Amino acid sequence: MESLIALVNKIQRACTALGDHGEGSSLPTLWDSLPAIAVVGGQSSGKSSVLESVVGKDFLPRGAGIVTRRPLVLQLHRIDEGKEYAEFMHLPKKKFTDFAAVRQEISDETDRETGRSSKVISTVPIHLSIFSPNVVNLTLVDLPGLTKVAVDGQPESIVQDIENMVRSFIEKPNCIILAISPANQDLATSDAIKISREVDPKGDRTFGVLTKIDLMDQGTNAVDILEGRGYKLRYPWVGVVNRSQADINKSVDMIAARRRERDYFQTSPEYRHLTERMGSEYLGKMLSKHLEVVIKSRIPGLQSLITKTISELETELSRLGKPVAADAGGKLYMIMEICRAFDQTFKEHLDGTRSGGEKI
Ligand code: GDP
Ligand code: NA
Ligand code: MG
Repeated sequence: MESLIALVNKIQRACTALGDHGEGSSLPTLWDSLPAIAVVGGQSSGKSSVLESVVGKDFLPRGAGIVTRRPLVLQLHRIDEGKEYAEFMHLPKKKFTDFAAVRQEISDETDRETGRSSKVISTVPIHLSIFSPNVVNLTLVDLPGLTKVAVDGQPESIVQDIENMVRSFIEKPNCIILAISPANQDLATSDAIKISREVDPKGDRTFGVLTKIDLMDQGTNAVDILEGRGYKLRYPWVGVVNRSQADINKSVDMIAARRRERDYFQTSPEYRHLTERMGSEYLGKMLSKHLEVVIKSRIPGLQSLITKTISELETELSRLGKPVAADAGGKLYMIMEICRAFDQTFKEHLDGTRSGGEKI
């Protein structure tokens, strides 16, 4: 049976590919109802580093200032074998096997929408898929970092614009929030915690990630938070140690970085007892499992939306009739087929669940 996350990924891509043709139908609602994980935090809190560690690949633009200026919707697809590659929605025919080229394309595509100015942000997402035997199935959204003040000639409105963009993603009840907070700063001042608390006061869909544990002041540690005594969320905090700027400059590769991260937790007397649930690899697996559970719990609602979408698409197709623009018709057919497959697989998952006696 196809994994639910893979299936949701497919329909997300189809919805997006359909673009304007979906206007006025249930498609935008459907897209909004599909669970995904948004990464939020202050600038330089370690958002991009966490994403790269979870993927196990070096592929995101880096630098000073606001580097992430458009949302990046990142779909990870686990494949059984073969060489890993990446694909952008806006370049459907091109397979990227060089991840430095992926980084360049993210940067170029950002500029295409916003102009070259590093002062401008856009809410139009970039869609990137990575196919690899080394990833877990997951949909993650990287967002611009929250800031407190405009700098370097940025318009004053940028602070609010970024906050609004982040909020528009995380206020959706189906959004799982990955709240990134650096361990070397007071949690009380964490931008990630502040905004996620606003939209999810009980912390029911917020996962706290504590970065930069290696950069904490001598004599202090994060054990209280990691053990749930500092700032309590429904799910336990996960601590990570990403590559430092010096590591990035020296091109320390991700595999070495992951190994070092594991060693860090295993060999430190404070964290040794928490090793099992620390680090980027654990974070990725845990999130994938959680996403699967969330999707499963939403099947009935998604199913009725899908049924509605299929019937709308049928109406739309018959309205367009014969002399239909091949493009529009083709895309509508495509998404209808995917919806049908979706419906079918949902039924299988539900049947599987029933016969397994598992409750959802
Ligand atoms: P973003 O702006 O939130 O996307 O943050 P980045 O992921 O770009 O990280 C900002 C800077 O912090 C980079 O120089 C990273 O190398 C560094 N950094 C991030 N996480 C860690 C960490 O866990 N330990 C150390 N030592 N440096 C980190
Ligand atoms: Na940041
Ligand atoms: Mg970033």
